[in-house]
This record gives sequence, structure tokens and C-alpha cells, in this order.
Amino acid sequence: MSEHIEVRRDGPVLEILFARPEKKNALSNAMYRAAREALEAAQTDGSIRVVLFGSEGEAFTAGNDIADFAAAAGGERREPEAFRFIEALGRAEKPIVAAVPGFAVGVGMTMLLHCDLVYVAETAKLSTPFVNLALVPEAASSLLLPLRIGHARAFAMFTLGESLSGAEAFTLGLANKAVPAAEVLPAARAAAKALAERPLGAVLATKRLMRDVAGILARMGGERQIFGERLQSAEAREAFQAFAERRPPDFSRLTS
Ligand code: COA
Repeated sequence: MSEHIEVRRDGPVLEILFARPEKKNALSNAMYRAAREALEAAQTDGSIRVVLFGSEGEAFTAGNDIADFAAAAGGERREPEAFRFIEALGRAEKPIVAAVPGFAVGVGMTMLLHCDLVYVAETAKLSTPFVNLALVPEAASSLLLPLRIGHARAFAMFTLGESLSGAEAFTLGLANKAVPAAEVLPAARAAAKALAERPLGAVLATKRLMRDVAGILARMGGERQIFGERLQSAEAREAFQAFAERRPPDFSRLTS
């Protein structure tokens, strides 16, 4: 378990809440593990019909803990918990609802592509600045994000770090509704409750029909390999060091 993941039951809905607000809910290895274990347990627990991802504080999550990226770039060997979490999302059969009150960065944004109903604050900020960190997209987002919002917008998000507001995410079809921040969790909970009242067999069959799980997992595998290679690069070391030193990175002297 992780003290920074809160798992709560509300009848047939399992809530998994990111709870590290002092670090904008950045996801540590322990948090990924706890979230994955809860998500996987929900798949086999017949009394759970819907999973809801939410957060404490103003952010959804600022993505992977950059200190953990830096440790991995420095050669530290750890269980690849981030990728195990991402793969569990790809495999999840039960419907997933997300409540996004603020920042959704990196995996915080890409995991939304695996959520079935998404409620965002109008003022939320969704971004996937992988290339700013000298990394590449994950969670099959290199496949799914262009499909959802088109190549040009997705490329600008990945490479230039352009972000979307919650209102824009709604317009582009990435979210069901954009509401004031205080209404996000209540809206998501109401949707989860409504979903839990639907016939579960038909909901699961619909989700299965709508997603090419084999294709998603294959893309995740391809991304994972390249992500691992990029993590070891001099470019990535410079990016992580710059984040720690609160300065802009300087890639000008580095070649690929
Ligand atoms: N990993 C580790 N720590 C993080 C973090 C992350 N991904 N995101 C935020 N934090 C920490 C900050 O270092 C800071 O810690 P400190 O108070 O000990 O200095 C604290 O969380 C608050 O963050 P801060 O940057 O001061 O908040 P902000 O409101 O000014 O900005 C963000 C919020 C999300 C825009 C900014 O924190 C950010 O860009 N984070 C990195 C996001 C990222 O690149 N994630 C990886 C994507 S692949």
C-alpha cells in the first residue's frame, strides 16, 4: 500500500484517489503499485461495477515523479511499476470514470485515454510534455491521442508541450463534461453511480467492443522499449537535472 493512494468503496463503485497534494499528486513507484493493485482487484471482485479515479487537492496528477525518472536514468534498477500500472489500465474490463480538477500531466493525461467517462474542471490543464523531458509518449497515447484529436494537435502536445484547458478537452471529445472545479468530483460520482445501475454484462461487452485491447497492449510494449532507451539518454539526464535545479534545460550541445 501507499499512504499517497486512498482507496474507498462507495457501494459498487471503487474510488482510487491520488493523495499527495503537496507534490501535485506526482506518482511514485509505491503509488503506481497501490493504484494498480486496487484496479486489478476490482476486475475480479464481483461486487465492484465501476472504478473511479480522482484526487485530493487541486491537481489530478503532475505525472510520474521526476525524481524517480532521475533515479532510473542514473541506473537504479526497480520494478517498472509505472508500466505495470499502465498495462493494467489497458487490460481493465470494468468501466473507469475519471474526475480531473486541475493539472493532468504526462501519465495523468494519457491515462484518461483509458477512462470511459471523464469529467474535467473548465480550468484544468492537460499536457503531455514528454519531449520536454527528452522522453516519448506512453500508455499507447502515441496511437490513441492522434486518433482522438488528430495528428497535428497531438504532435504539438507531445513535442512542444502544448496544453489543453478542460474546456478545450471537452470540445475535442477527450472529456464528457467541463464544469467548475468544485463540481468535478460530484459529477464523476453521479456518473459512476448511474453506470453502476446499468446491466454490468452489457456494459462490459460494450467496453470490449469499443477497444482494441491487443492493439493497445502491443503499442504500449513498443513505447515501453523506446521510453526505456530514452530514459538512459544524456538528453534525459539534462532534463531531469534542470527540473531539480528549477532552470530551463539546455539541449543545444547534445546530439541524438
Ligand atoms: N515529480 C516530482 N515532483 C513534482 C512533480 C513531478 N512530476 N510535479 C510537481 N512536483 C513537486 C514540485 O517539485 C514541488 O515540490 P517542492 O514544493 O518540494 O519544491 C511541488 O510538487 C509543487 O510543484 P510546483 O512546480 O511548485 O507547482 P506549480 O503549481 O507551480 O506547477 C506543475 C505545477 C504541474 C505545472 C509543475 O509542478 C510541473 O511542471 N511539474 C512537472 C510535470 C511533469 O513534467 N511531469 C512528468 C510528465 S512526463
